[in-house]
Amino acid sequence: MKILIATEKPFATEAVKGIQQVFGNAGMETSLLEKYTAKAQLLEAVKQVDAIIIRSDIIDADVFEAAQNLKIVVRAGAGYDNVDLETATAHNVVVMNTPGQNSNAVAELAAGLMVYAARNFYDGTSGSELMGKKLGIHAYGNVGRNVARIAKGFGMELYAYDAFCPAGIIENEGVKALSSAEELYETCQYVSLHIPATPATKNSINYALLNRMPGKAVLINTARKEVIHEAELVELMEDRPDFKYLTDIVPGNDAEMKAKFPKRYFTTPKKMGAQTTEANNNAGIAAANQIAGFLLKGDTKFRVN
Ligand code: 3PG
Repeated sequence: MKILIATEKPFATEAVKGIQQVFGNAGMETSLLEKYTAKAQLLEAVKQVDAIIIRSDIIDADVFEAAQNLKIVVRAGAGYDNVDLETATAHNVVVMNTPGQNSNAVAELAAGLMVYAARNFYDGTSGSELMGKKLGIHAYGNVGRNVARIAKGFGMELYAYDAFCPAGIIENEGVKALSSAEELYETCQYVSLHIPATPATKNSINYALLNRMPGKAVLINTARKEVIHEAELVELMEDRPDFKYLTDIVPGNDAEMKAKFPKRYFTTPKKMGAQTTEANNNAGIAAANQIAGFLLKGDTKFRVN
C-alpha cells in the first residue's frame, strides 16, 4: 500500500517521522509532498497512492480523477471544508478527520490573540485586562471548550452559543449557555469564533450581528475566513472605532483592512493555530493510525462522508 502525506503547510519534522513509523510498522510505503506551489504537483503525486493525509490542502474532483487507486483521505485536523465530499463518495473514497487532536493548540492561539488585543497590540500604551470581561464562545466544540478552560484561568465571565451542543453540557463546564448568536454578541465584549465553514455559516458574521457587541468589542477568528462577511466587517469597523478584529486566517481583503485599520486589525501571515509540534504529532499520527485501521481492518470511525 502507498500512502502520501500532502501538506502545503508542512507538519513538524517529528510528526512526519511518527507518521512514517506508523506506516513502516504496518508494512506500508510513505511518500511526502510538502510546500508544493502548483496543483499539478499534487495531481502527479496522488497517481499511484491508496491513501492521503492532508491538512487544509484542497482535495477536489481533479484530485479524485487523478488518484485512481485512492481509497481514503484523512484530514489531519478538524475542518474538512477543503474536501469535496460528494465527489469522494462518488469515487468510493472514504474521508475522515481527526477531531480534537489539534484543538488545544488553536485554543492557546485564540487566548494569545485576546491578550494581544487587550494590550493594544503591544504598542507601549496602557491596555486593559481580561479578568472580569465577558467572553462569548461561538460554537462549543473541541476548540471552544479548550478556550473556555483557558479563559477561566484569566478570570473571564464565560458565555457560549452552540446550535447543536445541548445547554447542559455547556453549563456543566461552568459556562453560561445562551439561546442565540444574537444574545451572545449582545452580551460579550470578546467573541471567539469556532464555527465551521458550511453553506449555512458562510458570511453569517455580518454587520447586524457584530453591531450588537458592546463597546470596545474584540472579535477573534481562529475558525475560517469564509464565515465573515468581509465587506460588512469593513463597514462596521468604519462605523465603530472601538471595534478590533484579530484573525488567524488571512482575509480576502487583507490589504484594505491593513490600510484602514492598522491599530485595530491583525492577522497571522498563515493559519498557524494548529501549527505546533504537539498538534502535528497528535493529528498526524491519529490520521496515520486511522488510515492503517481502515486499510487493514476496515475501521471507519471518524468517517465524515
Ligand atoms: C483545522 O481545521 O484542523 C484547523 O483549522 C487547522 O488547519 P491546518 O491543519 O491547515 O493548520
